Amino acid sequence: MLHGRRILLCVTGGVAAYKSAYLARRLVESGASVRVAMSESALEFIGAQTFAAITGNHPVTSLFADESVSPHTEMARWADLVIVAPATAATIGRMAEGISSDLISATILAATAPILVAPAMHTEMWENRSTQRNIDQLRSDGHHLVGPNEGSLAGGDVGVGRVAEPEEILEAASSILEGDAGGRAVLVTAGGTREPIDPVRYVGNRSSGKMGHAIADEAVIRGYSVTLVTTSSLPVHPAIKVVSVETAQEMFTVVSDVKADVAVMAAAVADFRPAKSHETKLARSDGLKSIQLEATPDVLASVVARSERPYVVGFAAETGGVERAIEKAERKRVDLLVYNDVSEPGSGFNTDTNRVVFIGQDGTTESLPLLSKAEVAEKIWDRIASELNERE
Ligand SMILES: Cc1cc2nc3c(=O)[nH]c(=O)nc-3n(C[C@H](O)[C@H](O)[C@H](O)COP(=O)(O)O)c2cc1C
Repeated sequence: MLHGRRILLCVTGGVAAYKSAYLARRLVESGASVRVAMSESALEFIGAQTFAAITGNHPVTSLFADESVSPHTEMARWADLVIVAPATAATIGRMAEGISSDLISATILAATAPILVAPAMHTEMWENRSTQRNIDQLRSDGHHLVGPNEGSLAGGDVGVGRVAEPEEILEAASSILEGDAGGRAVLVTAGGTREPIDPVRYVGNRSSGKMGHAIADEAVIRGYSVTLVTTSSLPVHPAIKVVSVETAQEMFTVVSDVKADVAVMAAAVADFRPAKSHETKLARSDGLKSIQLEATPDVLASVVARSERPYVVGFAAETGGVERAIEKAERKRVDLLVYNDVSEPGSGFNTDTNRVVFIGQDGTTESLPLLSKAEVAEKIWDRIASELNERE
């Protein structure tokens, strides 16, 4: 699943550099956003313009002469995955030693994203003990390797050292990026429910759905299969299955049919609804009405109570201290509660930012700074992924 993922392709100086042009094209065709970094030696083998035309982005070719003040950290932070293809013996050696003496090695050292290395070199270079020692080091540092294959090499030689084919690299990249998701199904609820008084008026709340939609977007980018049950019409990633609802009852009914390994319940579901919804619009001349309320079904509780219980994330939008949210986390038996004080500047409904506190099952808290909702979504998925990994 490469759709929507950010791939940094690092091309180093071997004859196989020409094959990376095709790899770049296949990555683009798979729906990934692709940027390219090229070593000085790579430029001896293939022109930067080729990659610019394929990816729509000019490759970065120097640590210092580029437009960016700090291209290595900027690219490293951007990438969801770094692919080094072809990876020369020289670059592999620098990686193994943690040397950051050029654009590619500095970028790799700065990257926290997974790194996929596709070595390419003559058999003698590949079999050299120092190369093999370096490869062992890359493996023990947690880098991913693909190839090299056995076959014909530059200059008519035959042996091990041929770079993995673009399709193999593509497949390896997909399986690394699916690692987090592991084929898991995700349910996200979003937006505020609207409980009708009559065909025109409703009892509602100020939730915009922005946070829930950002969570659904981030999940699909990480390779999860996502169903979003929402009252909001905000745009989302095309790979998300969207089910639009309006009332708490509709959300309850739809949610009960969605199978999920992870449920992120970000919707602001009304606790009460008008006991009677009038069929025709109430007129001023009808006089003042009192509205009798009744309880709505508890969507979150229904998910927590499932026999095949997913990992459940609840939300608490409060106007006060975190204590009430800690109590809610325990009472609702969620795995993670995301608390925010909606009375705080930048943290309320319909904002693009949020300051949240994570409350774990054991009541421990983790306060995050004011972040964009997209960044909060990333933090939520980092936390979910690490807890799911711990459980396995
Ligand atoms: C014609 C030619 C082909 C080369 N092919 C390879 C290669 O396939 N693999 C490799 O590790 N080095 C190869 N090299 C050597 C690298 O270009 C050299 O080690 C360079 O310093 C690598 O720098 P880089 O890793 O920063 O790109 C080749 C050199 C020449 C002149």
